[in-house]
Amino acid sequence: MPRTLNPELRRALADRIRYYNELGIYDFYRRGPSGSRDGDVTTSVAMATSEIQSESGEEMNPRKAAAVAAPVAVEENIFEVLAPKPEQKVTDPAKALKIIREDLGDCTRCALHKQGRKQIVFGVGDPNAELLFVGEGPGADEDEQGEPFVGRSGQLLTNMIKAMGLSREQVYIANIVKCRPPANRAPEREETETCSPFLMRQIAAIKPKVVVALGATAAKTLLAMNSSMIQLRGRFYDFKPAGVRINDRSNDPRWDGCKLAVTYHPAFLLRDPRQKGEAWKDLQMVMKELGLKAPKATT
Ligand code: URA
Repeated sequence: MPRTLNPELRRALADRIRYYNELGIYDFYRRGPSGSRDGDVTTSVAMATSEIQSESGEEMNPRKAAAVAAPVAVEENIFEVLAPKPEQKVTDPAKALKIIREDLGDCTRCALHKQGRKQIVFGVGDPNAELLFVGEGPGADEDEQGEPFVGRSGQLLTNMIKAMGLSREQVYIANIVKCRPPANRAPEREETETCSPFLMRQIAAIKPKVVVALGATAAKTLLAMNSSMIQLRGRFYDFKPAGVRINDRSNDPRWDGCKLAVTYHPAFLLRDPRQKGEAWKDLQMVMKELGLKAPKATT
C-alpha cells in the first residue's frame, strides 16, 4: 500500500512539477529498480525531490529526509496524479466535465461507496462559470437528489449567491468528496485524497476566475494547508489545481490558475449566525475581484 506524502513535501513536489510543466515538461517516468531508467526519461520525480532539497539549502531532519527518500511512495502517488487525463485536449468545458463524469463511473475507489451512499454527487452549474464553490461532501438531501447543496445549508448558500448578484445557475458548485460520508461525518483523509483529483480536474475544465472554499475541509484540501479558518480567511490565494496540466497549449493557454478565497461553511453559519457578517466580508472581496455589485434591495 502506498504511504502518503507529508503535506509539506507534497506541496513542494507539486510546486516543482508545476514548474516543470511551465517549462513544457509533462512526462515523468519511473526509475527502474536498479537505478536504471525505464523508457525515454525526460525527468524524474526523484530528481524533483532532490532538487527541492538542494534548492532549500537546508539540512533535512531525518524524518523529512526519509520522506524524500521514499521514492516508491512518492512515485505511486505522483504517477497516478500525473497520468494524462482523457479530457485534457478538450476545450469545451461542458464536454470536458462529461468526460470526467464518465471516468468517475460508478466509483468504488474509496470506502464511501459501501457506506450507504445512494448516488454520486458530481457537481452542478454553469460549465463556463467564473465562480466555483467547493463544499465538503454531500449530506442526506444531496445524496437523495444527486445535487450539491440542496438541503438547509444549500438554501443558505443559494441566498449567499443571490446576495452576490448571481444565481445558482451562473456559478458551479461541487464538493471535496462526491459520496455522502455516513452520519454526515467529515470525510477521512484517504477519501479526500482519492476523490479530490476529480474535483481538481473539474476546476481545470471550468477554468473559473475565483474558487471559494466553504469551510475548513475544502480550504485545507484545496490549499494543502493545515491552518485554522481564522488564519485562512480574509485573503486571496493563487490557486492551480494540483496534478492537472493546466498550461498545456493544446488546452487553454489563457488560463493559468485562478484566485481562491476561504469562507465559512453555510452549515457553520446556520449554527452560528453571528458569523454571517464575516462571511459576507469574504464574499464582498470575491465580488470586487469579479466586478460584481450586490443587487439593490427590493421593497
Ligand atoms: N454540505 C456540503 O459540504 N456539501 C453539500 O453538498 C451539502 C452540505
